[in-house]
Amino acid sequence: METQPNVTDDLLVELERLCVEFAVTAGALIRDERPGRVRVEATKSSDTDVVTVMDQRSEALLHRLVREHRPQDGILGEEGVDVAGTSGLTWVLDPIDGTVNYLYDIPAYAVSVAVVVGDARADGGWTPIAGAVCDPCRRLVHHARRGGGAWTRPERDAGTGHAESAALRVSTEDRLHRALLATGFGYDAEVRARQAEILRRVLPAVRDIRRIGSAALDLVRVADGSVDAYAESGINAWDLAAGWIIVEEAGGLVGGRVDRPGKALTVAAGPQLLERVRSLFLG
Ligand code: IPD
Repeated sequence: METQPNVTDDLLVELERLCVEFAVTAGALIRDERPGRVRVEATKSSDTDVVTVMDQRSEALLHRLVREHRPQDGILGEEGVDVAGTSGLTWVLDPIDGTVNYLYDIPAYAVSVAVVVGDARADGGWTPIAGAVCDPCRRLVHHARRGGGAWTRPERDAGTGHAESAALRVSTEDRLHRALLATGFGYDAEVRARQAEILRRVLPAVRDIRRIGSAALDLVRVADGSVDAYAESGINAWDLAAGWIIVEEAGGLVGGRVDRPGKALTVAAGPQLLERVRSLFLG
C-alpha cells in the first residue's frame, strides 16, 4: 500500500526551499559549463529526441542533492533516475527542459524540480505540492508550494527569502480570439502530423501561437500572464510537475482531456479561458 505522507505547512516551506535551491544549482551548472559545442550523447524516442552530456550531468547533480537532503523520498528523472522512496513523496526532475534549444544555444531552457504525491510513474496518478523552474539564461527562478502563492525572484536571492520576489498572476483574458497561446510538439513524426492537423483549427481561432521550446517555461509564462494559455499533448511528468503548481498558485487552472493534465492533453490558462482552449484542442 502507498504511504500517505503527512504534509505539514513546515514541510511544504522546506520542500519549496529545496526545490528552489536544487533548480538554481543545476541551472547554474548547465549555463556556466555549457560547452562551446554541445555533443549529442544519445537519442530516445526518435532521432530528434536528444540527450546531451549536460542533461546527464544536471540529472546526476539533482539526484545527489535530493539523496543528501531527502534520502527517504523517491526520485523520477527524465534521463532515467528512478528511485523508490519510503515517505510517499517523489521528486520529479527535468535536468534540462528545452534540450533542443540548449543544443542550438537558443536561450530558452530550464531546470524543473518538483515534489509530488501519488504515483509519479502513472499518467494522471500524482499531484505536485511544491516546485521550482530555474530559467538560467534570465537568471530567474519561479517557484510555488501548495497554498503559498507563486513567485519569481532573481536566482542570486535564491536562499534569502522573498526580498526581491514578485507574485505571479495569470492573465484575465477570456476571449479566445484575443488569446496568445503557447504550445509544443512531440518528437515522434506521427504525433507531430496529428498536432499539425490540430493547429490548422487552432491558429485561425486565436491571436497567435508561440512555440518557445520548453514546456516548463510555457507554464511559467501562463503563470505570469505573459501568454494567456498553453496546450500540448504528449508531455511527461517532468515537463509538467513544477509548472503545474506554479500555474495553480498563480490563480490558473491546469487540466487535461477530462480533468487532470497528462499525456492525452495538458491545458493551462486562467479560469475564464481554460474550457475554451480545451474545447478548441479537442475539436
Ligand atoms: C520538451 C520541451 C518542449 C515540448 C516537448 C518536451 P525536453 O522537453 O518541453 O517544449 O514541446 O513536448 O518533450 O525534451 O526539452 O526536456
